[in-house]
Amino acid sequence: MMNVQLSLEQVLISLPDDAPEATVGHMFMPPFFEALGFQSTEILAEFSTKRGAEKVDYALRHNKEDCDSFVKSRTNPNVIVEIKKRNDNLQEGTPQYKETVCQLKSYLLAPNCKTVQWGIITNASHIQLFRKHGKVVHPSSLCLEITPDNISKITKDIRQKIDNTPRALTVAIYNNKGGVGKTTTTVNLAATLTVQGKKVLIVDFDPNQKDLTRYFNIKPKKDSIFSLLEDKNDRISFKGELVSYTVNFKTPAKTLSFDILPCDEKLGDCSEVELKQLFKENRLRQVLDKVKFDYDYILIDSPPNWRFFSRSAVIASDVVIIPTKPNNIFSLENAAITIKDYIPEVQKLKRDGTPVALPIFWNGEKITEPQKRTAYKAIDNLIEQSEKNQETPFDLQPYFYPRFKNSVNIQKQLIFELPSYAHIANSAFSHLPAVYKDITAYNYYLDLAKEYLLQ
Ligand SMILES: Nc1ncnc2c1ncn2[C@@H]1O[C@H](COP(=O)(O)OP(=O)(O)O)[C@@H](O)[C@H]1O
Ligand SMILES: [Mg+2]
Repeated sequence: MMNVQLSLEQVLISLPDDAPEATVGHMFMPPFFEALGFQSTEILAEFSTKRGAEKVDYALRHNKEDCDSFVKSRTNPNVIVEIKKRNDNLQEGTPQYKETVCQLKSYLLAPNCKTVQWGIITNASHIQLFRKHGKVVHPSSLCLEITPDNISKITKDIRQKIDNTPRALTVAIYNNKGGVGKTTTTVNLAATLTVQGKKVLIVDFDPNQKDLTRYFNIKPKKDSIFSLLEDKNDRISFKGELVSYTVNFKTPAKTLSFDILPCDEKLGDCSEVELKQLFKENRLRQVLDKVKFDYDYILIDSPPNWRFFSRSAVIASDVVIIPTKPNNIFSLENAAITIKDYIPEVQKLKRDGTPVALPIFWNGEKITEPQKRTAYKAIDNLIEQSEKNQETPFDLQPYFYPRFKNSVNIQKQLIFELPSYAHIANSAFSHLPAVYKDITAYNYYLDLAKEYLLQ
């Protein structure tokens, strides 16, 4: 008898509800991988994510024309897939789901998976796609229920994403509180990433304050971002609105540069009502989509307050970085509100699992031990209240204590701290990012970049 491969639809109809993992593997995966466009020499089962154990079920990579096939070289995978038995409950939020996501994340960040950009979890009943960019792992779809009716559409969407992987990670720097260091973080993080060889764009989406634009001594044009937002027919060149910021260093001789999209007068003069009449809140996202293959990072500086500008910035982003101050309870409360209310609200609108909050950090304060203890107490309170909320309980812990595992003794003093440093505060006067002038400042922000972004 000929071994005819069933279609994905046929597999789903004939696959038993209690199919063990091996059956999911040999029935569902072959037509699924074929639909994603991978041939048999581009698929490895039981791929070692690091030396020794810790094998992910599948790794995939397209063969390059002139080199060895993936099954022979066994290096530089692009996609990994973790499968489960069919009646494991992989619905979002279940313990089994959380465990599987954790497992996938640890594989994605493992040494043999440095080149991996996509991760998939599935049990042939549910499926979810995750994207990895440097150290960041974020969902790229919701966890979807699979049916014979929707499987071909779901697979097509996943393939479309994998075949068109954007280069950029888009990051909003936001806290619904002013003066916590959003603009300072945007500037110095951009400069640090540039030293690390990354191509960076920063966007001033705080047109009322224009701090980022002024930091670089750029005179706001009458109408620049405004015209990009307005321009539905692609008449205006994005590049034409950019300012390239370049610094020449003498020893060792090198030139570093990044791009700035400064704000303009017109946008700053609009009232909230006018803004909402003129632009949809996803308009900034559409505009930035045009350059997501040109940069490694797009950082958006946002204003405080949950209004048009910050909402647009968060909608445009894959992840949100939230600076806080340990001695300012409002900055901690606002971080909690952003994580448990605002971001889920945006996730509901976008329906692709983004954006996600990265854990908070403490910015720019000299903190004594008693102050720290007070801050931890306040945070513990926020976590407890949020857990106990009857209507919408939310687990804030991973966002405040990311390294905290169910252990009683583990120290909680693990919130990342970016110290207060005079050179950072003074650098605005010279219009030169502190990290370009001062090695201590550079090391602080390099630690921040490594904590969040760089693998
Ligand atoms: N790590 C730091 N060390 C010293 N001063 C800082 C630090 N981070 C921010 N600042 C200063 O704090 C003030 C507020 O920062 P800013 O970035 O403008 O906040 P935001 O954009 O959230 O309103 C600025 O004067 C800035 O120079
Ligand atoms: Mg600011």
